[in-house]
Amino acid sequence: MSKIVILSGSPAIPSRTDISLKYIEKLVEKEGFTTEYYSITDFSPIDLFQGRYDSEDILLLAEKIKQANGIIIGSPVYKASYTGVLKALIDLLPEGAFKDKPVLPIMIGGSNRHLLAIDYALKPLISILKGEPMQGLYFVDKEVEKQNPLSPIRDEELLNRTQSQVNEFVEAIQKRK
Ligand SMILES: Cc1cc2nc3c(=O)[nH]c(=O)nc-3n(C[C@H](O)[C@H](O)[C@H](O)COP(=O)(O)O)c2cc1C
Repeated sequence: MSKIVILSGSPAIPSRTDISLKYIEKLVEKEGFTTEYYSITDFSPIDLFQGRYDSEDILLLAEKIKQANGIIIGSPVYKASYTGVLKALIDLLPEGAFKDKPVLPIMIGGSNRHLLAIDYALKPLISILKGEPMQGLYFVDKEVEKQNPLSPIRDEELLNRTQSQVNEFVEAIQKRK
């Protein structure tokens, strides 16, 4: 069975990034994939700040990523880019950690002003890890309802766009088998 690793780069609890990623997790599970969900909040700040690439948790994440057929990576926009803590975690992964894997990038911002952060910041990071970035999804925070985590997206067009990105991601994984 195909495995997907989902990685959230939001330090916030609760987090709209997490809510969006968990919604997308359900969509990929419906397609028959198994998922492993990681948030940067699951990792020890000491590991991240002291660059402990050989810590048990980081080695386990690297192994789960290695075994995965695809990755979904999400971050809120912070200062027109992904979060610093997500980068702190990514810095500890081995070279080429996403090699030959389809990667679905998800970003969420306070407005559309930094829509291009997904192309100028997150996709280059995915490419450095040798992953294959899909087009991805950008949400504006008011489009994701925090008080309704099971069904957080109301807008019909956005729901369709989300489903269609999931479909492309699933197809990209199936083509590699
Ligand atoms: C420190 C900080 C910096 C932010 N910088 C931006 C920004 O540059 N552009 C933007 O559109 N939104 C920015 N935002 C808004 C967040 O991206 C937005 O509220 C997002 O939904 C937060 O996701 P979360 O609930 O997962 O933390 C910023 C928020 C914080 C806390």
